[in-house]
Amino acid sequence: MSSVAVVPGSFDPITLGHIDVIERAAKLFDELHVVVVHNPDKHALIPIAHRVALIEKSLEERGLANGNIIINSWSVGLLVDYCTDVGASAIVKGIRSQVDVAYETPMAIVNRNLAGVETIFLLPDPAHAHVSSSLVRQVSALGGDVAPYVPSAVAEFLKHTTD
Ligand code: PNS
Repeated sequence: MSSVAVVPGSFDPITLGHIDVIERAAKLFDELHVVVVHNPDKHALIPIAHRVALIEKSLEERGLANGNIIINSWSVGLLVDYCTDVGASAIVKGIRSQVDVAYETPMAIVNRNLAGVETIFLLPDPAHAHVSSSLVRQVSALGGDVAPYVPSAVAEFLKHTTD
C-alpha cells in the first residue's frame, strides 16, 4: 500500500520555509499533495489559482516538479475531506517555534478526531525560522526586497503586484 500525505496551507505566498518542509516531506511519502486551502480566518492577498500557479513554478525552479508531488486547491469543506478523498493518512506541517506548536496543536487534534488523520510535524532548517507569508506580504507591500525569503517566481510576482 502506498503512503499518501498532505501539506496544506494558505501559501499566500509560498515561501522558502514551505519549500523546505515540502522537500523533506516528499522524501517520506510515496505521494505528497501540496494543497492551497482557503483559511476563513485570513484575508488573502493572492487569489487561490495564482497561489497554485506560484507553487507549480516554485517547485519547478527547485527541481521538485514531475516527482511524487501533486499540487491542488481545496475550498469547499474540511481539510480532512480532501485527505479522505485522496487516501491520505497524514497531514504534514512545519514547526518554527512554540507559537506554531500552540497554533497547530488544536487543529491536529480536531483533524484526528474528525477523521483519524494524524498530523506529523517537521522541523524546518533554522535558516527559515523567521520566514512567514505574512512577513513577506508586509515587506513586499512596503517596497522591501523579499528575494531572500521566497522562490524567484514569487519575488517576480510580488514585484509586479506592488509596482
Ligand atoms: O497556512 P495556514 O493559513 O496556517 O493554514 C491553515 C489551514 C488552511 C491549513 C487550516 O485553516 C485548515 O485546515 N482549514 C480548512 C478548514 C478545516 O478543515 N478546519 C477544521 C480543522 S482545523
